[in-house]
Order: sequence, then structure tokens, then C-alpha cells
Amino acid sequence: MNFKGRDVISIEDFSLDEIEHILNVTKEVEMYPEKFKNEMAGKIMSPLFFENSTRTSSSFQAAMLQMGGRVLDFDIATSSVNKGETLRDTVKIIEGYNPDFVIIRHKRDGSAKFVADLLDVPVMNAGDGQNQHPTQTLLDLYTIKELRGSLDGTKIVLAGDLKYGRTVHSLALALSKYPRCEMVFISPDSLRMPKYILNELSKKGVSFQEKGLEELELSIRSFPIIYMTRIQRERFPESLEGEQEYEVISKVYRLSLEMLKNVNHELKIMHPLPKVGEIEESVDETNFAHYFQQAKNGLYIRKALLILLAGGKDE
Ligand code: CP
Repeated sequence: MNFKGRDVISIEDFSLDEIEHILNVTKEVEMYPEKFKNEMAGKIMSPLFFENSTRTSSSFQAAMLQMGGRVLDFDIATSSVNKGETLRDTVKIIEGYNPDFVIIRHKRDGSAKFVADLLDVPVMNAGDGQNQHPTQTLLDLYTIKELRGSLDGTKIVLAGDLKYGRTVHSLALALSKYPRCEMVFISPDSLRMPKYILNELSKKGVSFQEKGLEELELSIRSFPIIYMTRIQRERFPESLEGEQEYEVISKVYRLSLEMLKNVNHELKIMHPLPKVGEIEESVDETNFAHYFQQAKNGLYIRKALLILLAGGKDE
């Protein structure tokens, strides 16, 4: 198994064995941080976030700094992107400053692949439009494995904005690699899981059902994990209709403390975050909520990926 110098563009880039290896390295990184504290010495990471981020951006930076590496500054607000510089020119210029890794988040689907094809340096996709968010998925898988011991036979409800939500696209495809997984997709009709993902799941014989938002309460009584997602307002059409649609959906899509009264006490609630009202704040204090630990796991996953892409921990 060889990860040195590879790009991380899509969760489809990895076989099941490779994902399991990443998760094992992540466990080691979490348990023995001291062992890896100089792993990035002399290395530089260039994070290029053309879209907003808290978790992905900060955890990549923390991962690099905690392992003795350095991070190039890039702030979209003060960059020459605002003077009209193209993505192509921007990344070619950055490559000239010799980073060891480029991390890119951009609103355009396929932008990470576009950048990876241009550059020789390893590129990691930190979210490309409504397409994929593979490093998020790896931390989601790590969290699920932590919670239930194995990814085989995972039964999970994916709820919310399944059309524009890149985290659920990558997660559904990742889980489809594992045997006996079952998924329920809950969304408004206008925000259903894209057909190409459903087709892929069908091709692999994965068991899934699609349901409306009104089924949310019932579904969390029969499934052990619910993965909530934010309605991606920024990806809605910029029109009055788009605005009205968002207002209607955001009023009815809400997981409340009341709804958790009749669920199995083992239910796990996950969310890639940020959450903006779809989970009542009081739920945060319950044992059902696992999203803050999930976000923390992002640090360990991103450390593991940096180590592996630099050529460490190969098998
Ligand atoms: N989950 C996630 O990608 O969060 P950020 O947008 O804050 O990076």
C-alpha cells in the first residue's frame, strides 16, 4: 500500500483496505501524538480556501503545526483573486513557492481535480462545490467505527440537504464499499440524493430507501445512527423562489429534544457541522450528540493523511 505523493480528490480514490489503513494510522496518531510531533519538520502546507471553513481549515493547520510543520498564509479576502486572478494562475504561483501539500476548497465541482492535474505536489480536496468532501468522510468513518467497532453492516439515516451536501455524497459512496450497510435518505423532494449516487449504490447492491422529511421522527426510532446535514442555502438558486424554498424547508427540518423521547438510548447523532438550527441546541447536552467529537476526529484524520502522503506509515 503506497500513499506517498498521492492526491486525495474523491473517496473513490481509495480501496476499502486503504481506508482501513488510514483509519488504523489515525488511531495511532490519536493515541500517541508525541510519536508524530516532528513528522512534518521542514514541510510546508498551503491551504487554499476559496470558500468559508472553520473545521477543515483549522484542523489541517493544527495538524501541520502540531507535527512541526509550517503553514503558508492565504486569505481569500485579501488575495489577488479579488483582482480577477484565475484559479489556474493562483495555484501555479503557489506551487512555485514549493509547498509539500496543497489543500483546496472551492465552490466549483471538480476544482480539486483540476488543481491536482495542474500540480505535481500532493493536493487534498477540502470540499469542491456540491461534489465531494473526502477528508470529512474519512473522519465520519473513523467516528462511526469508534462508536460501533466496525463499519460493516452500518445502518444509517442521512438527512437534510442530500442534493447539495457534498459530505453525504462522499459518505454514501464510502459506506457502499463495506458489506451489509443500509441507508435511509431523508430530504425534501427538491433536495434528494443525486441519481448518479443512487445508481452507484444500486450497482453495488446496497440497500437504501428514500423518504420525505415527515419520516424523520419515525426513522430515528428504527435506525441507530442519524447523520444530519445543514440545508446549503449558499447553493440554492439566487432568486425569490430559491429564498422562499429555503425558508419553508428550514422551518420544518428540525431535530428536537422532544423527538428523542421515544428513541433507543443508543441512538447516535452525527453532523459534519456547522449546524444552523436543524438540531435544537438542548440536544447538544444529551448523550445522543456525537458531532463535537466527530469534528475533533478531523484533527487526527488530517494528521494521518499528511503523514501518509509524505511517505510515512506505508505498509
Ligand atoms: N465540516 C466542514 O467541512 O466544516 P467547515 O465548513 O467549517 O470546514
